[in-house]
Amino acid sequence: MSRGLGDVYKRQTLRVGGVAEWMLEPRTPEELREAWIAAHEFVQETATRDAEPAPVRVLGGGANLVVGDGVLPGVVITTEKVRRIFRPTAPPDESAPEDVLAGSVEGDPRIAQGRAADDPRLVAWCGATLPALLRTARDLGFAGLEGIVGVPGHVGGGVAMNAGGRWGEMWDVVETVRVLELDGTVRDLARDECSPSYRNANLGGRVVLGVVLRFEPEGRPAVEARMRQYLTEKNRVQPVTEWSAGCVFKNPDPEVAEGRSAGRLVDECGGKGLSRGDAVVSPLHGNFIVNQGEATSVDVLTLMEDVRDLVAQKTGIWLEFEVKRWVE
Ligand code: EPU
Repeated sequence: MSRGLGDVYKRQTLRVGGVAEWMLEPRTPEELREAWIAAHEFVQETATRDAEPAPVRVLGGGANLVVGDGVLPGVVITTEKVRRIFRPTAPPDESAPEDVLAGSVEGDPRIAQGRAADDPRLVAWCGATLPALLRTARDLGFAGLEGIVGVPGHVGGGVAMNAGGRWGEMWDVVETVRVLELDGTVRDLARDECSPSYRNANLGGRVVLGVVLRFEPEGRPAVEARMRQYLTEKNRVQPVTEWSAGCVFKNPDPEVAEGRSAGRLVDECGGKGLSRGDAVVSPLHGNFIVNQGEATSVDVLTLMEDVRDLVAQKTGIWLEFEVKRWVE
């Protein structure tokens, strides 16, 4: 465990925030489990009497997150190195129970091993990036995840928050998810044991270790064409190349908001271009706050509240934050 070296700033897409007091960098799901247990023991042991133990947090791709400035107390476990993507390997003995998540095939994930050649599934560990996963699926001609093209971040976060948009979402292809319970035990949840909803897989705070994804084999040209189309459209309406945390607010209930998205509400209320320091509401899309260079976490958080108050005053609609906040 390293003290004071855990630079959270560089590990999230908005580029604000300070450093983690302690940081752990496991390389496999098993190491992540060990890190989780060790970190909890550590914060219990070092807690001062009558005070709550410091928090233990898991950091994925930092794509949907605002981190406070300064030192973040407690332990941050990053998933950056837990990043393998592979095709399921069939058990050597057909009668053996299948545990595709336990594998960890080295090398090119596009190469099927043994009987797996016709298997339209991929296994991804939590720290695999979503862009790497999409590239692998595209190269294999596996359809089903094109809708999340352009979404940054890691598989773990994408699964936990059911990342997605107009053209589809992560749970469209989830078959099984391996999670870490809060007490450190590992469990596999089949898709029908879970109740994913809009921007929330409802995993109850469990940590995603890895996932088995089932695709439709369709061939590379069709998959690639859809990815290009969606990416072109996204580039036109979202500040994809700027530092941001993605959409700040969840879209409100269509009945309450008469079908208007959060971005449209901010736009209609005149919120585009509002700023605090270098944090600015994107002139391209009202649901994005971009960091123009030197924004602090306080700038971003204050601007988020300004925008929420503005929309509430003008429409009576109270927008709910989509981005997570790690602030003491
Ligand atoms: N609109 C405006 N003004 C704006 C922004 C949008 O009038 O400033 C209008 C658009 O013209 C469109 C409607 O609002 O008619 C919806 O906008 P958009 O198509 O951009 O979709 P969205 O609902 O704002 C959702 C997801 C995005 C995802 C896109 C595309 C949420 C909160 N957002 O955005 O996800 O990329 O669909 O699939 O669900 C994210 O979750 O971080 C995210 C960016």
